[in-house]
Amino acid sequence: MRVFAHRGYSGKYPENTMLAFREAVEVGTDGIELDVHETKDGVLVVHHDERVDRTTDGTGRICDLTFEELRSLNAAKLWAHKYGPEKVPAFEEYCEWAAEQSIVTNIEIKTDNTYYPDIEAKTWDMIVKYGLERKILFSSFNHFSMTRMKAIVPDYVDLGALVEHESGVKVFPGAYCRAAGYTCYHPPVAGLNDENVRNCKEHGIKINVWTVNDMDALERLYAWGVDGIFSNYPSIPKAWLAAQKDLSRK
Ligand code: G3P
Ligand code: MG
Repeated sequence: MRVFAHRGYSGKYPENTMLAFREAVEVGTDGIELDVHETKDGVLVVHHDERVDRTTDGTGRICDLTFEELRSLNAAKLWAHKYGPEKVPAFEEYCEWAAEQSIVTNIEIKTDNTYYPDIEAKTWDMIVKYGLERKILFSSFNHFSMTRMKAIVPDYVDLGALVEHESGVKVFPGAYCRAAGYTCYHPPVAGLNDENVRNCKEHGIKINVWTVNDMDALERLYAWGVDGIFSNYPSIPKAWLAAQKDLSRK
């Protein structure tokens, strides 16, 4: 079971910042999950919300800000009591760094509300520029983005269908992903059940679950044999998984 640091080590550091990414690697995460948007002047950037208001000292939508405007903001606003200022990373800055790391990156294409028409092709071009083709997977709540990505990327690149609690693929997620050409199903931890796990396995669809921050969920998902989890505290599942390995040797 692979552990992905959700928005980096976001339980202890400002989410989706280089600081949170570096610290996730420090605690031995297998992977990092991040979210990609596009600025007004077409630069790919790493940020969760469409707006900068919650996480930075700025205001407005990313698609209405230039990259220069975005870079003047402090992305560590919520952690000002603990850390100095951090910038919203350019996706390119992340890729340049990730090329030197032994980690997998789940790139979530954030086209849920605002559609950035060329985001799939631009994201893939950046991956190719930094030779990350074999070290990534893509996901999106907007499955159309995964369908567009499928037309661009080689077959070995995993594509994940993200679903929310209330909506999404409630039944036959494995059959759905297989038919659509996606290789992974990304449900919320609360939405997963025996039947859906079985359906994914029957159709050869990998399951990566978000966001796993408690032990009960971790144990349940491990017993199900899911492929990956996204956690805000990657050090905890990593330590727990290492302990399971030790126990099974005894
Ligand atoms: O990709 C898993 C998770 O990140 C999906 O939800 O809202 O944190 O992007 P969100
Ligand atoms: Mg995400």
